[in-house]
Amino acid sequence: MAVGLAAAALPVNLLAKEKEEEEEVSTNEDLMREHGILKRVLLCYDEVIRRIRARQDFPPQTVTDGATIIRKFIEDYHEKLEENHLFPRFRKAGKLTDLVDVLYTQHQAGRRVTDRVLSAVASLKSQDDRNRLADDLAAFNRMYAPHEAREDTVLFPELHKVVSPHEYDSLGEQFEKIERQTFGGDGFDIYRDKVEAIEKQLGIYDLAQFTPK
Ligand SMILES: [Fe+2]
Ligand SMILES: [Fe+2]
Repeated sequence: MAVGLAAAALPVNLLAKEKEEEEEVSTNEDLMREHGILKRVLLCYDEVIRRIRARQDFPPQTVTDGATIIRKFIEDYHEKLEENHLFPRFRKAGKLTDLVDVLYTQHQAGRRVTDRVLSAVASLKSQDDRNRLADDLAAFNRMYAPHEAREDTVLFPELHKVVSPHEYDSLGEQFEKIERQTFGGDGFDIYRDKVEAIEKQLGIYDLAQFTPK
């Protein structure tokens, strides 16, 4: 009762400010907005694929930068969260184990494709080189669009059945801590800015251009 009265006495805008400073992001929201960054890199890859197939130019740096986001933010961070904190809990609970096996295998396959993309883009000499790069980017997109959609709609919702509400909350806090340690700040903000810069270079940042007339 006393706490309620104290809170009621605080100006509304001050309460809102305090809430903003805490900015608690739940476990699934955290993972899903990381998928949003992944999706935006896939869209950059799509634009590069389109240009290669149309024999148009593109800045190779956009591919290097995109693949570097994938490496540092998705493969070495986001997927590690899934592999170290989610997959073992599903395996232990005996839930969605076939799906978890496929997701894990795809992480490893994705890393091999990213290795190839990074080395290919560093030595693009002929149209054959560009076509091979387009094939790798396309294979990456073909796998990751359904991969992340399956996690969003099947794996993550099921997490609520595998862990208690308390464990779910503390997982989110753990993820925040790992994120700060890994990136020295809010990795999501850092990498959202990076993907935005690539979109601007490729001319796909302006959202309104995609609205059908
Ligand atoms: Fe995954
Ligand atoms: Fe994921």
